Amino acid sequence: MSHDGAAAFSVMILPNSAGAIVRCAELLRKGELVAFPTETVYGLGGDATNDLAIAKVFAMKDRPDFNPLIVHIPGVAEAMTYAHFSEMALRLAEKFWPGPLTLVLPCAAPSPLSLLALAGLDTVALRAPSHPLAQALIKETDRPIAAPSANPSGRLSATHAQHVAEYFPELAVLNGGQSERGIESTILHVTADEAVLLREGPLTREDIEKAVTLRTQTGHAIRSPGQLLRHYAPRHRLRLDVQEVEPDEKLLAFGPGPYPGEPACNLSPAGDLTEAAANLFSMLHRLDREAAAGIAVMPIPNDGIGRAINDRLRRGAYVASGWHE
Ligand code: TXA
Ligand code: MG
Repeated sequence: MSHDGAAAFSVMILPNSAGAIVRCAELLRKGELVAFPTETVYGLGGDATNDLAIAKVFAMKDRPDFNPLIVHIPGVAEAMTYAHFSEMALRLAEKFWPGPLTLVLPCAAPSPLSLLALAGLDTVALRAPSHPLAQALIKETDRPIAAPSANPSGRLSATHAQHVAEYFPELAVLNGGQSERGIESTILHVTADEAVLLREGPLTREDIEKAVTLRTQTGHAIRSPGQLLRHYAPRHRLRLDVQEVEPDEKLLAFGPGPYPGEPACNLSPAGDLTEAAANLFSMLHRLDREAAAGIAVMPIPNDGIGRAINDRLRRGAYVASGWHE
């Protein structure tokens, strides 16, 4: 990844010019990752329409599962391309965007967004950040930007460019100084007539209740994203770690072979786990459409992002087999 030479860290200092933004936008459009400031915390950004870029986000953070990512857009007009806005959702977006509010909404279909960014869900988390550099970068890139907080999984969020550079020395970081809010955005799940608080954040309940009535998350009503992943198990049976393929099963292969049958798809012929992660959801969807009996998946190494792949596959197998619930 290119950066301005001599510095110990590859922090791109923005000298109050458009140059750094243009370069970061170019990197994003090429499928590279860029960290950028928002008013909440720094985000680790990737093109939300590019599966491979999103796989790099999960790999770089070493996320243990494919928790869905927030998709960042400039404002309501662009957001409407990606989600269905109820009257209530529109009211919230118009009142609080740009700002530290994320709305989880029904995904528009068909959608150009990476299934991996959505973790295969039929909802999408959207946010229009107010930080001027975030706004400028997203507009210049002219793509929706998926961005989790720019920290390795389980570590503190980054509220300064230097934090990001210490976590990820090779990453391009757009330097916007200290994050104004310092905690991650408030997340609301909004349906036609209900708003449920999924994550507390800089916008308080009281702020939100000035616009809409809020329901607090209870029991089973809204599941955590980790559990929600089960929604998108394939309709057909999913068998994992297969050594042999049964008649009428489609084989989802991994690596250069030998194969236990004829591969219908290969997550990564080269055995590259980041590439495999990028292909996982789209290949599962494709095989689910084609399969007669079920989908058989070869063993995937449980290293790095391979753990996230295996976590997702286990959830899919779990529902499809009807072993639980
Ligand atoms: O302030 C923020 O929100 C920062 C900045 C960079 O925008 N981003 C951030 O992203 O905090 P992250 O990935 O650390 O947290 C995103 C949260 C996760 O807990 C994820 O489960 C939830 O959003 N989420 C994303 N899509 C969802 C969906 N469709 N349904 C429910 N929760 C979702
Ligand atoms: Mg985070």
